[in-house]
Amino acid sequence: MDMPGTSTESTGAQHVGSTVTQARSVSVEQTRRVGLALGALLAPGDVVLLIGDLGAGKTALTQGIGAGLGVPGVINSPTFTILKEYTGRLPLYHFDLYRIESPDEVYALGFEDYFAGEGVCVIEWAERGEPREQDVPPPWPIDYLRITLRASGPDERMIEVTSAGPRGAAVQAALARAIVEER
Ligand SMILES: Nc1ncnc2c1ncn2[C@@H]1O[C@H](COP(=O)(O)OP(=O)(O)O)[C@@H](O)[C@H]1O
Ligand SMILES: [Mg+2]
Repeated sequence: MDMPGTSTESTGAQHVGSTVTQARSVSVEQTRRVGLALGALLAPGDVVLLIGDLGAGKTALTQGIGAGLGVPGVINSPTFTILKEYTGRLPLYHFDLYRIESPDEVYALGFEDYFAGEGVCVIEWAERGEPREQDVPPPWPIDYLRITLRASGPDERMIEVTSAGPRGAAVQAALARAIVEER
């Protein structure tokens, strides 16, 4: 894995002082391997937010996470269902908020049991569920990994990882080590 290294973010009140882990992927397989490494690290109650445009690789990364969790079979975008549940070493709750118009809708959907549950929550289009105001809490626990994917070429993606909360920070650090080891 080609990895430019880590740096410290200076903007974004929600993530002040947090470290940014950056990685560059040059193939869909490489993005899936990042997900695989992450899936192997996850524990019950972990929340992974995925941010990025259509085709950025959110589902590809989720496929890797599923493989890392031992989910058999194919994972695809749950766009028309908001939530798809898979069973591996742990349950995988795969959300897609593409159709959400405001964070209030996420509160109204009553996903608390999933967020605090025995499984792992992976949320595509999480930006659609994030409050626009700084002092409003998100509709999920404030302890999460936040991964932004950006297309920088036909097969190239920049993957940027931040986190909130103690568990988020621990998972981020472990993922950063796993990515470096794979280089
Ligand atoms: N480095 C890469 N990482 C992830 N996907 C890539 C990469 N290069 C090309 N692709 C392609 O980009 C698309 C990503 O699709 P998908 O994972 O469904 O995106 P999203 O869920 O963000 O809309 C796939 O067709 C995949 O083959
Ligand atoms: Mg998708």
